[in-house]
Amino acid sequence: MTVVVETIAALRAQVRTWRAEGLKVALVPTMGALHDGHVSLMRAALERADRCVVSIFVNPRQFAPTEDLDKYPRQLALDLDRLEKAGVHLAFTPGVDEVYPQGFATSISVGGPSAGLETDFRPAFFDGVATVVGKLFIQSEPDLAVFGEKDYQQLCVVKKLCRDLDLPVEVLGSPTIRDAEGLAMSSRNAYLSAEELEIARQLNKLLRKAASQLQSGADEQATMAAARMAILDAGFDVVDYVEARESVTLAPWQKDRNGRVLVAARLGKTRLIDNVEIAAS
Ligand code: PAF
Repeated sequence: MTVVVETIAALRAQVRTWRAEGLKVALVPTMGALHDGHVSLMRAALERADRCVVSIFVNPRQFAPTEDLDKYPRQLALDLDRLEKAGVHLAFTPGVDEVYPQGFATSISVGGPSAGLETDFRPAFFDGVATVVGKLFIQSEPDLAVFGEKDYQQLCVVKKLCRDLDLPVEVLGSPTIRDAEGLAMSSRNAYLSAEELEIARQLNKLLRKAASQLQSGADEQATMAAARMAILDAGFDVVDYVEARESVTLAPWQKDRNGRVLVAARLGKTRLIDNVEIAAS
């Protein structure tokens, strides 16, 4: 049975009890609206730990005033049902005041991999993510935490957060879960109309093509320009970025290194992100 707690004190008491019993604890931080991608993170957590905690908290600090905080899908009853079926031991579902009490005035800003890409379009995003993830790690004291590779820059930022602040949490990236057409699972896919969904499904195919061209030695600038055009031709309205980066530091990609092609593109009111691997040649 999934135990549901809303306070940091109850969360900490339960995790400390487990750890005192010698059990290994994993955390999967989420904003709810759970889909198969999230369930795969829980599975990865349960394979490596004795107890799995899932946090469900729509973090206001990572939304800009123009973004979809109010509209972000909230479905706690359905989510708790999913956690139960996935065998999750504890759900942490704090209110905003529990996480950010009156007078809260601290922010964590991670350098390195947060530069560029998402930050060029959502300047406060990673400060919001790092602040809440840092708090969740301190609140729950997990041995390990699992994040999806779909939010690849976020995964790199969280790893850097732990390294730089000596947080004793092993951060594990889990592969992106895709539908039969390759569209990466995302809570925001719920915003897409049937027509937009067909367009969205082109994104991963175009990314894979670009990554394979880079792997075969194609010119990076020309490949990225062609990928941008192809994404627009597929029906996307705006390409925020499509770039090749080194896979750990997210510095510009060097041909002999493992890399990622990362994209953010807008379709109607929905902004989609995705990434694929470039294997070192
Ligand atoms: O990826 C998400 O859902 C969020 O950014 C996270 C990591 C739960 C922090 O709010």
